[in-house]
Amino acid sequence: LLPKREGSKFLMLITNIKKLVPITSEPIFDAELEVEGGKIKWFGPSSFPPRVRVRGRLQRESRDIFDCKGAVVTPGLVDCHTHLVHAGTREKEFAMRAAGKSYLEIAKAGGGILSTVAATRETTFDELYALSERRLKEAISFGTTTIEIKSGYGLDTETEIKILKVAQKLAKDFPITIVGTFLGAHTFPPPLPSREGARGRGKYIDLLISEMLPEAAKLNFVRFCDVFVEKEAFTVAEAIQILTAAKKFKMGIKLHVDQLSAGKGAELAAELKAVSADHLEHISEEGIGALKKSGTVAVLLPGASFFLGMKPAPARALLDRGVLVAIATDYNPGTNPCLNLPLMGTLAMSQLKMKADEVWQAMTIHAARALNLEKEKGSIEIGKDADLILWEAADEIVPLYRYGSDCIRHIFAKGKQLL
Ligand code: NIG
Ligand code: FE
Repeated sequence: LLPKREGSKFLMLITNIKKLVPITSEPIFDAELEVEGGKIKWFGPSSFPPRVRVRGRLQRESRDIFDCKGAVVTPGLVDCHTHLVHAGTREKEFAMRAAGKSYLEIAKAGGGILSTVAATRETTFDELYALSERRLKEAISFGTTTIEIKSGYGLDTETEIKILKVAQKLAKDFPITIVGTFLGAHTFPPPLPSREGARGRGKYIDLLISEMLPEAAKLNFVRFCDVFVEKEAFTVAEAIQILTAAKKFKMGIKLHVDQLSAGKGAELAAELKAVSADHLEHISEEGIGALKKSGTVAVLLPGASFFLGMKPAPARALLDRGVLVAIATDYNPGTNPCLNLPLMGTLAMSQLKMKADEVWQAMTIHAARALNLEKEKGSIEIGKDADLILWEAADEIVPLYRYGSDCIRHIFAKGKQLL
C-alpha cells in the first residue's frame, strides 16, 4: 500500500516520469515522486491520488513542480571504489603495455603506483584540489552522486593527509556524498623493499600504524582502511597487522585482493569481516564460499581488467553462489583512467555476463552497501536521500546499451538539482 500524501505544500514534486526504477522494488510506469528536505517523501503512480487539473495544468505552485518530460528515473549511482585524488598521468605505460610489457614489469622499472606517488608528492594542495575537482565534476556528469575516494599516492604521512584533506574539502564543497578511505598501504614507499626485506617493510608498517593511521583518523573524515594485498605489495600477515590497528580507530575494512594473482585475499576479507573485497579477478572457489558466508560485498572493477587486457572477475560464479556483487570504476591513473560508471555497467554485461538488473543493483544498492550507506543511498525508498538521475531513454537498459554516450538529462543530489 502506498503511503498517503500529507499537506499540499511540497518542496518539489517530480512529475511525468515515464518509468521509475526504485531498484529495491518493482518499476512504476507513469510515476511521480516527492522530495522534501532533501529526502524522498513519496513516490507512486501519477494517477494516485487523483489531482485536480485546470486546462491540463497541475493546480500547484509551479515552483514546486519539476516536469521531467517522460524521463526514466533511477537512484543516483554509487561509485564505491576510486583513487580520484592524484597528480600526473600514465599514458606512456598504456602504450608500453600495448607494446607487450606487463603491469608488474612496468611497476618494477619505476613506473606504476610509485610514479604517481612522485607526482602527487610534488603537487601543492591547491593544484591537487583543482585536478581532483575537475575529475569529480566529470564523475557527476556520468551520474555518480556518491563516491568513495581513497588516499594511497602519498605513502608518507604528509602526502597521505594532503590527499585526504583534498577529498574532505571536495566533500564540503560539493552537494554529493563523498566517503574517505585510507590506503596508506597501497604499496611500500621507495626504495621498494623485497618480499624478504623484513626491515624496510617493518619500518613502513610501523609508520602506518603509529603515525599515519592516527593522523588520518583525526581528520574525522575517513570511514575505511584499505590494503593492497599482492605479490608486489602487502602480504596477508601484514594486512592483518594494519587492519587490526585500523579497527581500533573505528574504521571499516576494505581490501584490494586477488587482482593480479591468487592470494587467498577473499578468504582474508571474510575473516576480517571486511565490508568489501575488491577486484577478485583471481578469487578461489573457497574465497567465493567465504564471501557468501561473511556477507562481504564483492566489488568488481571491470574497467581495470578491461584496460589491463586481463581476464575479468568471475562475476557469474559469485552471483550464482549468492554473493552480493557491486561494480565500481576503480578510477586511477594506472589501471582505469575512466570515471564513466554506466560504461562499467556495459562491460559488466558484455564481459562479466551480468544481467541488466544485476548491473543496476551493482551500481546502486550493493555499492551503497559496500560503503555501509545502504540505509541512505542506492535505491528509491521513502526516507532515503533524494539522489536521482533523470535519463533520456526508453528504459534503464538504454544507458548501458548506448555505451559511452550521454543519456543523462538531469541530476539531483539530496534534492538539489545539479544538472
Ligand atoms: O586498484 N591495485 C592497486 N591499485 C590500483 C592501481 C593503482 C595504480 O596503478 O596506480 C587499482 O587497480
Ligand atoms: Fe583500486
